[in-house]
This record gives sequence, structure tokens and C-alpha cells, in this order.
Amino acid sequence: AVMQKLTVAIDGPSGSGKSSVSKEAARRLGAAYLDTGAMYRAVTWHALDAGTDLSDAAAVEAAVKAADLFISTDPDLELVTIHGTDVTQAIREPFVSEAVSAVATNLAARAELVSRQRAIINAHERIVAEGRDITTVVAPDANARILLTASEEARLRRRGLQLGGTQSAEALEAQVLARDAKDSTVVNFTVAADGVATVDSSDLDFEQTVTAVLAAISAQDK
Ligand code: DC
Repeated sequence: AVMQKLTVAIDGPSGSGKSSVSKEAARRLGAAYLDTGAMYRAVTWHALDAGTDLSDAAAVEAAVKAADLFISTDPDLELVTIHGTDVTQAIREPFVSEAVSAVATNLAARAELVSRQRAIINAHERIVAEGRDITTVVAPDANARILLTASEEARLRRRGLQLGGTQSAEALEAQVLARDAKDSTVVNFTVAADGVATVDSSDLDFEQTVTAVLAAISAQDK
């Protein structure tokens, strides 16, 4: 069967289940999947690896513009390379999470990554793209736009599970809240923009969240 062109934009904070839910929604829609956070992480990893001074905005901008970045859009193949190095696992390390806001708060770096994200989205007939500014900046004209939220309590609980429960609850809470605060200085992903549907995953399990997201997509994509 011929499938119609489809772009789905999903934003939300960390711990909302955004990545795993978006990836599963992509599989069920027969669509590609783009994790834009992984792009921010990969260029951050590279800047650190190259010894770039992350407090030097011009240096960060230059590093991002020159980045030879590849990201798989196959929901069943997680692969990110930068200048030929496979950084799929490395970009999830805490040292990258700690440093990534230097790139995410750099407007010129954002403009560069937004332009690459639009090119990737435009190159696919069907794609689910997720991040913090997809519904508002990267793909405001997407067929369906969703803000996936979760209460602070639910997000902390999921973060704890993701990290294997090795960190103390307070340290984890401080970390997650500090990152949210840093992240929200440039993009507002806590309030749904006009026309963006909110799905609150606080009291939903994974399958229920995927179902709710797919329902929100079909309700909008008419
Ligand atoms: O979702 P994540 O934790 O992998 O995102 C990594 C960082 O990149 C985080 O600080 C938020 C930022 N980010 C962003 O500013 N815009 C996006 N579209 C995606 C991620």
C-alpha cells in the first residue's frame, strides 16, 4: 500500500519517556525516527574530544558548523557517528549530559542543528522527530504535533530506573531539575504551543503512552 507523507513532531522534557515512546510510535507508523537530542549530544562530545573551550561561543559555533555528523533514522538501528567515530553509547555518558547545555544555549549552534534537522525531516516521506523545539521551531507545520509531559515525580522515578537506581534520590532530583532549568532557558517545552496536543504520561505505562500518542497523531492528521 502507498503510504502518505507524514511528519510527526514530539517535544517534552527528559524523563517523559519521549525517546522510547517516539521510537515505538515511528515503528508502528512505518516511519523513520529522529532523536534531535542525540545531535546536540554528539556535537558536544566532539567539541569536548577536540578540546574546544565550551565557554567560547564562537568556538562552539565553529565546531558545530564543521561537524561531520551522521545519525541513523531507522527506529531499529541506533547509530550516531561524528567524524567517523561511533559515539552512540558515549553521548549518553554523564560528562556529555553535563556539558550539552553549552551547545543547546548557543543560538548559532542551534540554528545550524535546526537546519540539518529540517533537511533530514524533508528527506523522509514519513518521520517522527523528537526534541525540545520540534513542534515550535523545527517543524511547526508538521501533520501532528505533541507535547509529551509527565509530573516531576514521574520523571524522577523514570530517571532513577534509567540510571539503575545507583544514585541517591536527592542527588538525582537536583540533577534532573538543574538540567531542566538549563534546558528551558532557550526553548520552552513545558507549555504546549497553539495547536499542539498535550499527552500527560504521568499515570500511563509505556504501552498506554504509545497508544495515547498514536491517538493524538491520528486525531490531528486529517
Ligand atoms: O533529550 P536529550 O537529553 O538527549 O537532549 C540533550 C540536550 O539537548 C538537552 O540539554 C536538551 C537539548 N536539546 C535541545 O535543546 N533541543 C532539542 N531539539 C533537543 C535537545
